[in-house]
Amino acid sequence: MEWSRELRYKPYADWGAKTLLDLQAQAACSDYKLGYHIMPTSGLLNDPNGFSYYNGYWHVFYQSYPFGPVHGLKSWNHMRSKNLVHWENLGIGLNPDFEYDKNGAYSGSALQVGNKLFIMYNGNSRDENWVRHPYQLGAWMDENNRIEKLPEPLITQPDHITEHFRDPQIIKHKDEYYAIIGAQDATQKDGRISIYRSKDLKNFEDLGYLHFTDENMGYMIECPSLVFINDKPVLIFCPQGMDKNICSYDNIYPNNYIIGDSVNLDAGRFEASDKTIKNLDEGFDVYASQAFNAPDGKTYLISWTGLPEIEYPTDKENWAHCLSQVKELLLTDKGELIQRPVKAMADLRYDGLPLTQEQGMDHIQNLVSDTGSQYELKLTLDANQKGILHLEKNGLNNQSLKLVFDTEEGSLTLDRGNSGKVFATEFGTKRTTLVAKNAPIELDIFVDNSICEIFINGGKKTMTARFFPEKGQKSIVIESQSDVKYRGTFWKMQSI
Ligand code: FRU
Repeated sequence: MEWSRELRYKPYADWGAKTLLDLQAQAACSDYKLGYHIMPTSGLLNDPNGFSYYNGYWHVFYQSYPFGPVHGLKSWNHMRSKNLVHWENLGIGLNPDFEYDKNGAYSGSALQVGNKLFIMYNGNSRDENWVRHPYQLGAWMDENNRIEKLPEPLITQPDHITEHFRDPQIIKHKDEYYAIIGAQDATQKDGRISIYRSKDLKNFEDLGYLHFTDENMGYMIECPSLVFINDKPVLIFCPQGMDKNICSYDNIYPNNYIIGDSVNLDAGRFEASDKTIKNLDEGFDVYASQAFNAPDGKTYLISWTGLPEIEYPTDKENWAHCLSQVKELLLTDKGELIQRPVKAMADLRYDGLPLTQEQGMDHIQNLVSDTGSQYELKLTLDANQKGILHLEKNGLNNQSLKLVFDTEEGSLTLDRGNSGKVFATEFGTKRTTLVAKNAPIELDIFVDNSICEIFINGGKKTMTARFFPEKGQKSIVIESQSDVKYRGTFWKMQSI
């Protein structure tokens, strides 16, 4: 199908229920459908939005274009959960249905205020010359999950920012509300984070930009997300077009973070003694992550597992992408960011199988011969070992998702180059990350059919990959020149 602009922006009501049902059936029957991750019921899913806790439930919405695997007219699709693992689909939450969001209810966030949930999002509105007018909009959700939009924008585009002004994160900090918004400066045409302050969530005052680095952040920053962990500010953001010397990356756009010592939003200052900008994930597909400080005192993160402007194999089945599992964010005593699975993930485990090195079997060690398509594998590899952990290996031994490890060098390379249907090869098929040398490596690997999420050394690093195995790829094997010592556990994982 030729996805003309007209088709992408065709009103939802003009599509007809039969089209939608057919698309839903296609996604539900896909060989690549996910068992314990949020995937679209039809069409394309992108950014997580409005990740919050309200009225006894965790809420997350996602950017949705339900009519195909393309970025068309976006709405918010609403999911809620009691435990951050089992999600219930409540359907469309925000429709692009009025002047200020008529070309898309774009990304935003949510915060409980009083007994309602306040939603702040970006209205994408184009004029007759297809010029974009970005509006930061508000809405209130009540206890029955009914959402009422505010009739007028909260913030319109200021002169110093171009049409690229979106993805507001609303937070409460020191008794004031602040909106942190992705922006492109009108003069420099570079990526910025814009700050607004409000006392009443009606009037917003422009405080200028948040200064958090002296480096140039490319031409646009999308999806900024500021959280506080042990009182330290952690800023998560997606710079587009950033120089790779600032922070090396191979994905089309990176998703980065910086840890600060303090932040003064009124003065626009994010102070960091260590100014290093790091990748949030060392794998392939993590983008547009959203984090928030939850009322339980913890900090949670969820990401779009997909990237803009890249074709994925399921596009042919008319659906695309998924959300990551929810991760808890922590800081170590040394101030390093840790990402770890939430507690309830362990409730999905069944049929646990202890794994230890099989004496005398070098070169090839079969860990699990029939994994099924949903599992968790916890594995500790001893120091001074080299080899390849093959996930989802086929019987002919020529296809697998490879994790090449060298605990002496302290390196891990995730290679999806021969893991089934290959895609996005123009961005490389391998990603490498470095960990402590001459030390054991602890892996916690989650596979859910067409996504693999790896937590390394207690979550000091993570590597994520969408991959699309062919039929018959179902075993876990370690290949090495000599005996590799390991111990661990394999569990099958239930669907949610
Ligand atoms: C990031 C993004 C956001 C925008 C949304 C539109 O993936 O481009 O900046 O709000 O997607 O769907």
